Amino acid sequence: MQRAPLSTMVAAATVLICQVTLLMPSYAVPAELAVGWLRNLVWAVNGIAIARLVTHAIDVLFWDRLVARTMGGTVPAILKSIVSVVVYVTATSLIVGIVYEQNVAAFLTALGAGGVVLGLAVRGIFSDLFTGLAVNFDGIVAINDWIQLASRSGPERPLLGRVREIGWRSTQLETEEGTLLIIPNTVLAEDLVTNFTRPTPATRYECSIALDASVPCERAKRILLGAARSLVGSPGFVSDKSPMVLVKGTTEMGVEYLIRYWIQSWNPLSPTAARDAVLSRALQHMAVAGVTPAKAKTEIFHDRIAPARAADITAEGRGQLLAGVQLFASLEEGDRLRLAQELKRIVLPAAETVVRQGSAGDTLYVIAEGALDVFVKTDQSPEPVLVATLGAGDFFGEMSLLTGEPRRATVRVATPAVLYELTRHTVADLIERRPEVADALARAVAERRVGLDAAHRYADVSAKEAAVATISNQLNRLVREFFSRRVRGSAPVAS
Ligand code: CMP
Repeated sequence: MQRAPLSTMVAAATVLICQVTLLMPSYAVPAELAVGWLRNLVWAVNGIAIARLVTHAIDVLFWDRLVARTMGGTVPAILKSIVSVVVYVTATSLIVGIVYEQNVAAFLTALGAGGVVLGLAVRGIFSDLFTGLAVNFDGIVAINDWIQLASRSGPERPLLGRVREIGWRSTQLETEEGTLLIIPNTVLAEDLVTNFTRPTPATRYECSIALDASVPCERAKRILLGAARSLVGSPGFVSDKSPMVLVKGTTEMGVEYLIRYWIQSWNPLSPTAARDAVLSRALQHMAVAGVTPAKAKTEIFHDRIAPARAADITAEGRGQLLAGVQLFASLEEGDRLRLAQELKRIVLPAAETVVRQGSAGDTLYVIAEGALDVFVKTDQSPEPVLVATLGAGDFFGEMSLLTGEPRRATVRVATPAVLYELTRHTVADLIERRPEVADALARAVAERRVGLDAAHRYADVSAKEAAVATISNQLNRLVREFFSRRVRGSAPVAS
């Protein structure tokens, strides 16, 4: 339990002493204390001390327990202070009326008149006070909201921070840099306030990237949208709002694309960190697709320019695409190029189902552009559950291709995509010529499987390595058995 503040403990002690003093028989105390001014003073002190105890009780029981729990946050100090003032004015009026037997109405009038005079003298303070009140009651800004203040009069840098306290005179903002800004409430009323936490914590941000005009618009949008979509659902990115890619304009560099995405501001990502995530992912997807950001057309290079990656439609480009795929990374370049020549390019619109859980399959897909969702249906969840979103450079369908088992998941196109398809026939040819390739493929698949649930299943690196070795051995047997059947001429069997 929290300890009561010192003022409350002093008030409790004062009430106790006053009560004992007032209960003492008249013959045991000085005459003034029995009936005179001293007795009145003790009553008055007693009354003020009781008022202090009442305000403390209201703070703890009403504001902190009831209101704070119902609102689910911290109660602004200004509300507590106003109720305290009402309690003290009531206590003082009772003392004036009962202890000193004076006219309470006259006392309150005098208090009011004094208040007006004081009010004129301290207009600024009152203005701050009422703005603070308005802010509280309007509910436009609450504690823990992220807000930005922009001066109406000038282009000064906007002030940005998380509301820590709304007080009588000022509102405290904690900035991203870890400093505390104390803003007079009148400034809050005069400035343009943007609240990032209301009406919902989801906020749309955008960033732009320029690509060369030679990249077709449809392709550029597919690559960038795939990148932004593959982040949806990861920490900070809102899962029920889809990103968007729009052409912002053309410049002498090329075409500028606007990527719009939704995040929960500062929870846990700041807008700057979210933009970093989006642009980094966009560059990663562009690299896989062989597209670079637009270069200045007038720039004069004195350095040697690295050769641009071949477009992935050529065999060489496809070889480079496969080199970036974990499953084929350990293959020798000649083997990879041979596989690359057999790849079939497939362009798919959104919402298309590429593989369906439970069906037989003998193809593997490498994603060159776009994003695809992986859904799994289990006995516990008859409705398909989204387990992963795959993006450029990822692959899927390896399980059925390598083992002949039915598809373990349904994979659906989330944003328009370009895939490269590899058939079992091609892989079988390779394994026939180079049986050790089966080891490399089995190990890559085992690593991927273990990696998918590594976060919760494996305590340390050695446990994870042991799991990879076990699964890899099992798979290796399955793969060799399966392909030896095929080599001997029997038809693939889905178990
Ligand atoms: P396959 O079983 O042939 O067909 C469905 C594919 O979905 C499967 O191969 C994997 O490539 C992929 N897949 C299955 N489960 C997951 C998962 N949890 N995360 C990512 N991809 C998966």
